[in-house]
Amino acid sequence: MAQIVVTRPLVDGALEGLASHHDVTVGSPPSGDGLSEQSLIDRIGDARAIITTVADPITADVVAGCPGLEVIAQYGVGLDNVDLNAAAEADITVTHTPGVLTDATADFTWALLLAVGRRVLEADAFVREGHFERWETRTILGMELAGKTLGIIGLGRIGAAVARRALGFGMDVIFYNRSPANPTVIRESGATPASLETVLTSSDVVSLHCPHNEDSHHLLDLEALNMMRPEALLINTARGPVIKEADLVEALDAGMIAGAGLDVFEEEPDVHPGLMNHDRVVLAPHLASATVEARIRMGQMCVESLLAYFDGEDVPHRAR
Ligand code: DGY
Repeated sequence: MAQIVVTRPLVDGALEGLASHHDVTVGSPPSGDGLSEQSLIDRIGDARAIITTVADPITADVVAGCPGLEVIAQYGVGLDNVDLNAAAEADITVTHTPGVLTDATADFTWALLLAVGRRVLEADAFVREGHFERWETRTILGMELAGKTLGIIGLGRIGAAVARRALGFGMDVIFYNRSPANPTVIRESGATPASLETVLTSSDVVSLHCPHNEDSHHLLDLEALNMMRPEALLINTARGPVIKEADLVEALDAGMIAGAGLDVFEEEPDVHPGLMNHDRVVLAPHLASATVEARIRMGQMCVESLLAYFDGEDVPHRAR
């Protein structure tokens, strides 16, 4: 039996099958703005494996502070909270959960897109605040999607799933990928390749689906935002630091773009105060994978990886 620590409680049913084989400890829900490096080291102790989330900073210090650690099973697809170099140096196996949250994330991208485009939160507030006195011709006008262009930055699994949904709305889809996208994915998505500049200048909606790394850090800065159309919308369900948040506030204030739907932020859980006051900005607390189905499947993938590792089998869902 291996000692396995889960940094925080997961949804019911996510860890089925793990506790009957291993000694599993589930940490209590973190308070405040989450788990610090020291509290992670304390939680992990002598454990041989951990199940971590995007909110857990698995830094070089955490890796160094947990010398018994053999496996990091990330409950999520993105791994930018894990210092992969430090994990490699310590010969730690890292797994993650690609694929199972694609539909949930694509759906939520569309929830944000529609909420911003059709001003759903303003409409809700309008009714609740008692302003709905009669039907009017010019109340809360939004953007029609049919015939418009959706520009996807990052045509991986999630970008492609967002693109497929766009076809149902009658949108044209173009995409920019830093590395060549998979030809089957391109065909199935119905999207046309374009330069970053074309995506920014020609799209009515730009949606981010690239990972956060050195190349994508602050990809959407003031210069890039200024290339977008004044009536365009920006949606981010990828990673916060892909957008330079202060520049986004400036771009919104200056009318360089019309609105934004944001599920992720540069310094989570902090949100730039300038984003809080905009009517055409819809904010969510990093919820895109938050369906019961996706969160159960994410747990099952962690379980599969850990059971295989400790049974000496090939480890599925390996990131390294
Ligand atoms: C991920 O999987 O990377 C999401 O951001 C959290 O589920």
